[in-house]
Amino acid sequence: MEIYFAPLQGFTDFVYRNFHAKYFSGVDKYFTPFLRVEKNDVRKKDKADLINSLSLFKSSDSGIELVPQIIVNCREDVEILVQFLENQGFRACDLNFGCPFPQQSHHFYGAGIWDKPEKVCEVFEALKLFPEISFSLKMRLGNTSLSQTVDLLDVINSADFRFVTVHPRLAKQMYSGEIDFQGFEVLYSKIKKPIVFNGDLLSVQDIEAVEKKYPDLKAVMIGRGLLRNPFLAENFKNKNSAFDKQRFLNFQNALIEGYLAQYQNSEFMVLDKMKTFWQFSNADSKMLKRIKKAKSISEYISFSAMAVSEKK
Ligand SMILES: Cc1cc2nc3c(=O)[nH]c(=O)nc-3n(C[C@H](O)[C@H](O)[C@H](O)COP(=O)(O)O)c2cc1C
Repeated sequence: MEIYFAPLQGFTDFVYRNFHAKYFSGVDKYFTPFLRVEKNDVRKKDKADLINSLSLFKSSDSGIELVPQIIVNCREDVEILVQFLENQGFRACDLNFGCPFPQQSHHFYGAGIWDKPEKVCEVFEALKLFPEISFSLKMRLGNTSLSQTVDLLDVINSADFRFVTVHPRLAKQMYSGEIDFQGFEVLYSKIKKPIVFNGDLLSVQDIEAVEKKYPDLKAVMIGRGLLRNPFLAENFKNKNSAFDKQRFLNFQNALIEGYLAQYQNSEFMVLDKMKTFWQFSNADSKMLKRIKKAKSISEYISFSAMAVSEKK
């Protein structure tokens, strides 16, 4: 079974993805956070993020794939975004039909598109304009109810997706609360495409349990679990729980260098950025407080080294 690194807006940017792929193994595909249309063009920031990823992923012969994700709800969006991806040489594209944030869903983007079946059909139809591109879909159970996606199963099944990732929650749950396994099973059994499970996989045991329960899964997609423990995919593939502290710290140093270059050497911005990753950590709460209060990058580095040396 494959492992995919989920897209996480604000976290899995090109700096993070490029260095994660360099320092750790086990991830088969990395997904970009969604690209979107702004003023009739690809949003500038999204363009830059993607272009900065090209060298690593094009020169890599490791078999790792970078899949750009787009958020769309009409033909024009598809044309603008997918044309850009095609021009950049990409042959894969993931559709975001799961974003629960009201800024998107209230405008019938992300999970909100399930409120407008005609928009789902319009988008799927527009994909046919790009026969060279291999599309995949990332979805929730629905925006407000499972019946929204179940009612569109024929439409989903007749579109040409190479796989469909399901995050088994409704939009109102955001990213917390119980995962609806029953709801997942409905889509797992009825969507006639390879299925990828996504949600709350934090340990090798969690991944193995899902693999055992759903043996036909093509892959699992992991977000917060990999941010918490960047070795997770590698651990699953190697069947161990090794945590190489020095490698983790080298990765952190590389991120710091990468963000310093991106933020014109602003220590303040980089410190702020690095601290955000610890919100997913299960390190000791006192250590986490110290990291949060670090006043300089060198203080941050020494506190984070202490936090990992307390591990296992
Ligand atoms: C901060 C944050 C940003 C996210 N950004 C995206 C995004 O750009 N595209 C997307 O499809 N999902 C996005 N997600 C959802 C994740 O890809 C994933 O579906 C979700 O976190 C559940 O998986 P996990 O429990 O393994 O983290 C985001 C989630 C979080 C918490």
